[in-house]
Amino acid sequence: MNEKRSSFSGSIGFVLAAAGSAVGLGNLWRFPYLAAQYGGGIFILVYIILALTFGFALMTTEIAIGRKTGLSCIGAYKALNKRFSFLGYIAWSVPIIILPYYSVIGGWVCKYIAVYLTGQGAAAADGGAFFGAFMSSTAAPLGWFLLFLALTAVVVIAGVEKGVEKVSKVMMPVLVVLIVGISVYVLTIPGTMEGLKYYLLPDFSKFSITTVCAAMSQLFYSMSLAMGIMVTYGSYTRKDVSLVKAVNQIEIFDTGVALLAGLMIIPALFAFQGEEGLTSAGVGLMFQTLPAVFGQMPGGSVVGLVFFVLVFFAALTSSISLMETIVSMLMDRTKLGRKMSCLVVFIVCIVLGVPSSLGFGVWGHILPLGMDFLTFFDFISNSVIMPIVALITCILVGWFVGTKAICDEVSRNGEHFGRKALYEVMVKYLAPVCLVVILVFSVLQGMGIIKV
Ligand code: PHE
Repeated sequence: MNEKRSSFSGSIGFVLAAAGSAVGLGNLWRFPYLAAQYGGGIFILVYIILALTFGFALMTTEIAIGRKTGLSCIGAYKALNKRFSFLGYIAWSVPIIILPYYSVIGGWVCKYIAVYLTGQGAAAADGGAFFGAFMSSTAAPLGWFLLFLALTAVVVIAGVEKGVEKVSKVMMPVLVVLIVGISVYVLTIPGTMEGLKYYLLPDFSKFSITTVCAAMSQLFYSMSLAMGIMVTYGSYTRKDVSLVKAVNQIEIFDTGVALLAGLMIIPALFAFQGEEGLTSAGVGLMFQTLPAVFGQMPGGSVVGLVFFVLVFFAALTSSISLMETIVSMLMDRTKLGRKMSCLVVFIVCIVLGVPSSLGFGVWGHILPLGMDFLTFFDFISNSVIMPIVALITCILVGWFVGTKAICDEVSRNGEHFGRKALYEVMVKYLAPVCLVVILVFSVLQGMGIIKV
């Protein structure tokens, strides 16, 4: 439809690129600290149930919409129904909010690569003070943030196939192997078994609606849903790719990596700091606990280096997909070419990213809605805008376009759509009702009207 649009080379290329977008800091950095905060096993259980229902329904919808229309999000929603073109703009705002703070955390990852390269691994293994000092300084985190953002821009300028596919194909499997290895090692540390129980066994007394809200926001974030990204990726997908299989593979991979990341971090945190440490876990968790684990490990400084390099690539594939979405929209909407679009996005991201970076230091006293800037942006995108996008998408598909159009797109190669009945009920009834409830609670919680 659009001559500038590149395309993936086939099913594997598509799945890996979509998984490359999905698997990133959401799985490695965000999932573990939420799981720690929200009661371990119960959070995991809620998350898995949501992934199999909401996650499946939304991902199928978005990829199918993209492939059916061949357009990225603003054009795609408009093509389905003129009155819904506003949805594309709302969805598009999500990557614009996420990419800047994502790059701040990507910058932290780069910093840790440098830490291990320069032999400071032992100093970083102090369980938090080292990271705290870094995070609250000014120039260093800013510099690493800019570096990460610039690297992302370079890959995006190079184009979809060359950039995204090549990087994801090699790095993802290696990352999984390393995470499994680290998890196995962690379970040999004395005291981690109790932590493993906390992580795996649901304690229903810890369940509340906020668990569901947190798990839902994590689901959107982790699977790159409700922000037009999967629509864009769907538009790059060839017609003969099986969407049912692709969605299953992406979901299994994404959830698997998140569960493993938690396994690598939470039992260790429990062993080092007890239950206290778990409930007070925050955005720095990955950078505090893992270096401490590596510090105890034989050869830990090499493992630390390799680990952060792989996390870097996982983060990069995600930030690429965030930037790609914003850039491809700009290109579709304006006369700007790829390079100019990237430049514009780069500058906007710097402006929005600086507060997130400084919010742990010199701007630490500015607390929108009582949150530091990074948490604030994270909250606005994941807990407010994404549920809204998901809700309107369900209404659009369930009540205006009709689920049939999506189901037909899914089974256009004569493929059997096994969970079709579940899909239809989810999109038409269940998801809209639950999303309204979740949205209301998230907002009340964010405004401090109800407590976690
Ligand atoms: N899903 C990615 C992750 O888990 C992050 C991401 C969010 C990527 C939003 C694209 C869009 O890290």
